[in-house]
Amino acid sequence: MALPWALAVLSLLPLLDAQSPACPNFSVPITNASLDQISGKWFYIASASRLPGYKEKASKIHASFYFFTPNHTEDTILFREYMTVGDQCLYNSSSLKVQRENGTLSTSENGTEHYGQLVLSKDPKIFMLASFPEDKQNMGLSFFADQPEATPEQMQQFYDYLTCMGMDKSEVMYTDEKKNLCLLLEKQHDEERKKEEERSKTGTALD
Ligand SMILES: *[C@@H]1O[C@H](CO)[C@@H](O)[C@H](O)[C@H]1NC(C)=O
Ligand SMILES: *[C@@H]1O[C@H](CO)[C@@H](O)[C@H](O)[C@H]1NC(C)=O
Ligand SMILES: *[C@@H]1O[C@H](CO)[C@@H](O)[C@H](O)[C@H]1NC(C)=O
Ligand SMILES: *[C@@H]1O[C@H](CO)[C@@H](O)[C@H](O)[C@H]1NC(C)=O
Ligand SMILES: *[C@@H]1O[C@H](CO)[C@@H](O)[C@H](O)[C@H]1NC(C)=O
Ligand SMILES: *[C@@H]1O[C@H](CO)[C@@H](O)[C@H](O)[C@H]1NC(C)=O
Repeated sequence: MALPWALAVLSLLPLLDAQSPACPNFSVPITNASLDQISGKWFYIASASRLPGYKEKASKIHASFYFFTPNHTEDTILFREYMTVGDQCLYNSSSLKVQRENGTLSTSENGTEHYGQLVLSKDPKIFMLASFPEDKQNMGLSFFADQPEATPEQMQQFYDYLTCMGMDKSEVMYTDEKKNLCLLLEKQHDEERKKEEERSKTGTALD
């Protein structure tokens, strides 16, 4: 019985392949509305990438979250990054450039530009960044959500994009919120910011 079953499955494969959904156009222009949508706090949930060296780097990131502050006139996004690497919380802030016409966000790190195409889905509580979606050797997709854990439906949207690009679930690396070591630092920064705001308020009141 096993053999005919296997044959039946094999003969179905080309059919399934032909039916695998085509990816939507990745280069959707970025608008003010899309910038508003990605403004705020985001958790990096998972990613897959075939870029050489990516796996080694990404596997060290146990958890990370971001605050995005877009500037609609400058076409930049200020981002603050809290990343748990090993047993350390690393904080950094930097700026992303927004290329509206081709839907691309970029950042330069050590003189190298990194690109990601912004992928918004129907669900405003998630977004993705695709890199080299046409290049089988280097393609990548990262997945972000507004909560540290994504719902199964949200994960499925990520898997759908992954599949249409031609990558496999087995290539996905996940973060683990339980390993997040940055909550204390985030709290400290919040308190500092509040104090700063109060100080500037009293400052203007005295003027
Ligand atoms: C994707 O969308 C952009 C902007 O709407 C358009 O210029 C481009 O031709 C589209 N690409 C494909 C492959 O449809
Ligand atoms: C955006 O950037 C411009 C130029 O640097 C600055 O004048 C403006 O205040 C910024 N807007 C916001 C909302 O931060
Ligand atoms: C986007 O927002 C900026 C700043 O508010 C504004 O100057 C610009 O006209 C807006 N662009 C569009 C296409 O609405
Ligand atoms: C998007 O446009 C910018 C500016 O025109 C360009 O530098 C960049 O290479 C483009 N990115 C992609 C992925 O096409
Ligand atoms: C912070 O980000 C900037 C810009 O991406 C980078 O040049 C710098 O090396 C980063 N610093 C740390 C400590 O990761
Ligand atoms: C940037 O370059 C320096 C020196 O080459 C290296 O030590 C550092 O790890 C690099 N940073 C990143 C984020 O690649």
